[in-house]
Amino acid sequence: MRNPEDLKTERETARIVSDAHPAGWIGAETVRFDETDSTNLQAKRLAEEGASDGTLVVAECQTAGRGRLGRSFSSPQGEGIFMSVILRPEAPADQVSCLTLLAALAVQQGIGEIAGIGCGIKWPNDIIIHGKKVCGILTEMSMEERRVRHVVIGIGINCGNRDFPEELKEVATSLFLETGRQIRKDALIRSVWSAFEPLYESFLRYHDLREVREAYNQLLINREREVEVLDPDGAWKGSALGINEKGALLVKNKAGELIEISTGEVSVRGVYGYV
Ligand code: BTN
Repeated sequence: MRNPEDLKTERETARIVSDAHPAGWIGAETVRFDETDSTNLQAKRLAEEGASDGTLVVAECQTAGRGRLGRSFSSPQGEGIFMSVILRPEAPADQVSCLTLLAALAVQQGIGEIAGIGCGIKWPNDIIIHGKKVCGILTEMSMEERRVRHVVIGIGINCGNRDFPEELKEVATSLFLETGRQIRKDALIRSVWSAFEPLYESFLRYHDLREVREAYNQLLINREREVEVLDPDGAWKGSALGINEKGALLVKNKAGELIEISTGEVSVRGVYGYV
């Protein structure tokens, strides 16, 4: 991996921390930034340079935080956890999207353990408390001749935010707003990755979600709800039933047909609002 000095730009300070107390193998090598463009971009750069499986990139703020479907992700100084992990799974590329759902489960467990509050999951990757988003997840993959070279899973958790910009007020929340307490960010980071590790091992064994599908469906707030599928070829409405072992959302359309919605260019929202 590069010398931390080489990662510096005018506004970035990188510190490579060999975490003395990692929860497990993820985060044993951790690169910390006070500020960076995007931890996903940094993780991808490091992965290209050979950073090891499980390397974690954490930033106090991001100047170009990235969300799904080309959106941006608000990442103000000190308010959130912005982190990305580099993974090098031996798995078929078309199953890698399962990792996003596993990360959602791990975040839900971590928030439960450290903040003591229950969350739901809006398929595929938004963590929801009281109808508002507290965390988003962006998984990006690099391939070479149909082989997975590396995967970067980026997680943004709203922790200390006391309010949000006008355009986000209706849809976003933070752990502080929900619990009235400042949570220990490092403890939450550790808890998330220690929850993720056994989930990831199951994925490496089966290359699907067979062992966690039921647990995920229990947390799925879209389940048995009317949803609008925002397909670039045309939006349509149906009833969400749950995920299958590949992580696709099963939606029954008005004609009674069961349609598998894969993650990617499609998003789903509630008919009466964000969830
Ligand atoms: C979404 O909700 O659309 C996904 C948001 C993912 C945000 C995280 S913050 C850490 C990592 N770095 C990024 O630029 N994005 C992800």
